[in-house]
Amino acid sequence: MKAFRGEPTIYASAQSEDRRAELEVKDLTLRFGGITAVNRVNLTVQTGELVAVIGPNGAGKTSLLNCITGYYKPQEGQIWFNGKEITHLSTHHLTKLGIGRTYQNIELFPGMTVLSNMMLARHVHCNYSLGRASVFMKSVRNEEVRHRRVLEELIDFLEMQSIRKSLVGSLPYGLRKRVELGRALALEPKLLVLDEPFAGMTLEEKEDMVRFLVELNESWAQTMVLVEHDMSVVMSISKRVFVLDFGIKIAEGPPEFVQKHPQVIKAYLGDTGTIES
Ligand SMILES: Nc1ncnc2c1ncn2[C@@H]1O[C@H](COP(=O)(O)OP(=O)(O)O)[C@@H](O)[C@H]1O
Ligand SMILES: [Mg+2]
Repeated sequence: MKAFRGEPTIYASAQSEDRRAELEVKDLTLRFGGITAVNRVNLTVQTGELVAVIGPNGAGKTSLLNCITGYYKPQEGQIWFNGKEITHLSTHHLTKLGIGRTYQNIELFPGMTVLSNMMLARHVHCNYSLGRASVFMKSVRNEEVRHRRVLEELIDFLEMQSIRKSLVGSLPYGLRKRVELGRALALEPKLLVLDEPFAGMTLEEKEDMVRFLVELNESWAQTMVLVEHDMSVVMSISKRVFVLDFGIKIAEGPPEFVQKHPQVIKAYLGDTGTIES
């Protein structure tokens, strides 16, 4: 594994077993009243992959992510993560198992600094109870040092040095999206789930985000499932694309295959009228 900017990173240094992120979604169905948001969907993700889920608005992309991350409970089907069935586990439990996410609408604490938002996310890794913890205990001190090192690496990696003490609410939208990525990464997730990380961004912000995600995946071996509405961005970063329409998987494969798929073209033409990459 290539070290980030020549330095060995603590973030990416975990043993391969610790980074294992095998996801298997089997025959998953989620209904809201008469609407079937996810319809008998099957999806697998292997460790180290960056899989993109695309589809027009209302296709069921967020619903699928919400099932994987425990926010929605499917009526049928199963979800397995690293050999364990996780279909009905709580979001908190899934975070502990190593599934981290970002949201389509940013969910950060606007009145707190960038660093504090990221620090909060690390509490999942606190092995001591805060009541009993004392900074004079060596184990606690070592843990604190590790927390800080991981956060510093992430701030450096995401080029957020200049905004580390800024209040999140004062930042432009694109930067807040970047902080949200940092917050999700602060959990050191085995599987990172991103819901439309490029939405609402300027072209320059999109280019930065593409660069971060590609580097995370290639240099840090981060496993990711990325949901995106805009096909053009996805085509440049993912080797495997999964297409949903009306809750149903209509195609799956490399970008060039998916892009030419008649059902995908039909789904997108009916929605936005464009399919360029
Ligand atoms: N919490 C909810 N309650 C009722 N219907 C929902 C809910 N979440 C999603 N849906 C419906 O499920 C379908 C898929 O939505 P969603 O997963 O948000 O699509 P996408 O993320 O692809 O735009 C839509 O018809 C949407 O209205
Ligand atoms: Mg959505």
